[in-house]
Amino acid sequence: MKQTVLVSGGAGYIGSHTAVELINAGFGVVIADNLSNSDMSGVEGVRKITGVDVPFVNVDCCDKEAFSKVFEQYDFDSVIHFAAYKAVGESVADPMKYYRNNLLSFMNVIDLMREYGRHNIVFSSSATVYGEADQLPVTEQTPRKPATSAYGNTKQMCEDILRDSVAAYEALNGIALRYFNPIGAHPSALIGELPRGVPQNLVPFITQTAAGVRECLSIFGDDYPTPDGSCLRDYIDVVDLAKAHVVAIARMIDGKSKTRYEIFNVGTGNGTSVFELVRGFERVNNLKLNYKVAPRRPGDVVAIWADTALANEELGWKAERSLDDTLASAWAWEKHVRGL
Ligand code: UD1
Repeated sequence: MKQTVLVSGGAGYIGSHTAVELINAGFGVVIADNLSNSDMSGVEGVRKITGVDVPFVNVDCCDKEAFSKVFEQYDFDSVIHFAAYKAVGESVADPMKYYRNNLLSFMNVIDLMREYGRHNIVFSSSATVYGEADQLPVTEQTPRKPATSAYGNTKQMCEDILRDSVAAYEALNGIALRYFNPIGAHPSALIGELPRGVPQNLVPFITQTAAGVRECLSIFGDDYPTPDGSCLRDYIDVVDLAKAHVVAIARMIDGKSKTRYEIFNVGTGNGTSVFELVRGFERVNNLKLNYKVAPRRPGDVVAIWADTALANEELGWKAERSLDDTLASAWAWEKHVRGL
């Protein structure tokens, strides 16, 4: 077995898929999660898919004392830090909840890595750091825009905390992955996204509408300056995204990083409109979705998609799963959850 990787937030949506891909690639995995926005089904799904009894520690990364026990108990040199709150709207309504949780947990990770002599960290960043970009597609050099939510601000601040820490502490290597819009689920339909309450993101809302849990999908705006009037996003398959973490970790372990702190966009390089996504979902899954056009949602950017050249060239990574397969997997997962 290769080295072991600590996956904080590994019971959640992207974390659980990443745990699976790490194990598939021969890494050992320890999952730490406080289950605040997930449950044990994520961990059990990882164990079932991989056949490995992955260790799980129920711990809040904000509780440094408790979290330090994980560092004491397990021998890992690398950490992938997913544990964070992620609801944009909630972060605007309750910013301190976001600053306290997302910043403190990340600072604890870095402190503990230093205290226990651990070296490599991948941070879950987001395309939200680009805001409404002046030029598309966005490259890693595209300037960040001031954040419009506390959530977005925590992503920018954590990137900066990582950059400064790597600059100051020689033993530390970091990679920030800027995710575009992660969607879909594992082909086994044993793990996937489990939103609590009314989903805020497009694909969970679509699948719940198809399942009859929601009456009607609202398409937020059809009068944007785009070909069909709806917003454009870069929808990245969650398994492809998970694999980007594996190559990022391997890059640091193998000493292949060009600089000790690096940033990579993780997207497909394609902009897809909301209408295209909805029609694609209907076609691939052979069903009709109840939807209506609604007013624009405040805070939405018109269009964003990734320039993926850097990840292609440096990480040797590119998105592989087709949007059709991804949309089919999202529906298979929803049916699994609902027992349909
Ligand atoms: C947002 C965040 C992103 C975060 C992600 C997951 C920003 C700019 N982006 O992405 O950083 O990682 O959430 O929490 O803050 N839509 C509808 N109807 C719906 C839901 C969405 O039409 O019911 C549309 C939206 O207007 C948007 C697209 O679908 O055009 C995607 O929305 P969503 O899935 O919420 O993701 P983002 O807002 O792009």
